[in-house]
Amino acid sequence: MDITNFVSELPKCEQHLHIEGTLTAERRWLCAQANRIDIPGVRSLEELKKQYLTEYLYEEGQDATRYLQEFLEVYYASMNVLLTEDDFYHLALDYIKVARSQNIRYLEAFFDPQAHTSRGVGFDTVMNGLLRAQKKAPMYGVQVQWILCIVRDMSADSALETIRQAEPYKGKIIALGLDSDEHNNPPSKFQETFLIARSYGWKITAHCDVDQKNTHDHIHYAVTQLGGKKHKPAAHEIENSELYLTPQLESGADRIDHGLNVADKPELLELVKKANVGLTLCPMGYQKHLGPHNVFPKVVRLHRYGIPITLNSDDPAYLVYSKTGTILGVAEGAAFFSN
Ligand code: ADE
Ligand code: ZN
Repeated sequence: MDITNFVSELPKCEQHLHIEGTLTAERRWLCAQANRIDIPGVRSLEELKKQYLTEYLYEEGQDATRYLQEFLEVYYASMNVLLTEDDFYHLALDYIKVARSQNIRYLEAFFDPQAHTSRGVGFDTVMNGLLRAQKKAPMYGVQVQWILCIVRDMSADSALETIRQAEPYKGKIIALGLDSDEHNNPPSKFQETFLIARSYGWKITAHCDVDQKNTHDHIHYAVTQLGGKKHKPAAHEIENSELYLTPQLESGADRIDHGLNVADKPELLELVKKANVGLTLCPMGYQKHLGPHNVFPKVVRLHRYGIPITLNSDDPAYLVYSKTGTILGVAEGAAFFSN
């Protein structure tokens, strides 16, 4: 059996996936039609598919430091077609079906409520659509958990308002994350919100994106302080060490999303290893804009140092959209890596 098929058939988990980053041209077109929303520059599904294939792919020579900001502009603009509970339900269910096709058995997915509430969509509308899809997921052999993500280029007050809106759902969300534009938006800006998330009993995670300004400081803060004191692990969590990483520091995040730049600094390698914090890497996305030679040696360094890493697809509708228009994901990422 060739390696791609072998990896494809392995049972897998995916822990770094933005559900809004799975919005396919087909679903975006359907929602736009149903909600009577124009998509700029596009008059048919065929034209929209072409836009995905031509405009959203990273081009050779594009400034890598601008890549995240440029991607985020497209990412937020595209989701304006999502308005109703059904839209969020179908968005999530579409990816649950992709997960099944890739033999992903466990999916921890982010959602960005502020990207919707800031457009006038109710928090409950988003939540109820996603929770309906979560209920359906076991029918496809997939277990889904939701991570609420704070949009870090919005204000600290907006983050606080969002965590309060989430309170009625606190038993249905497993963690608080932090995403979007890292530039001038350190994790410390949201410490108050992360402390509330801890009081809800949630895990804590944060994006420390690749090659962003001050990312080493952001990693250090997140690993040592974000969200304050960690929960004491329950006895069964400690016993089952395959499922649970016993925390070695009293305070800080439970994991870091991306965090590839930990590999740049011996003191960060040591700290992250000591903290027993895992990194959710998305190497297919990075190698598109940084080139494989700038990515894979770092991934190998992290792994050899003993830092737990997982491979994930991040925003598969945009970042690893293949030339054939098929959604790719964690299976292809893992297969690429094992080659
Ligand atoms: N939101 C969606 N995808 C993201 C990414 N890769 N980094 C930061 N924020 C995001
Ligand atoms: Zn991400």
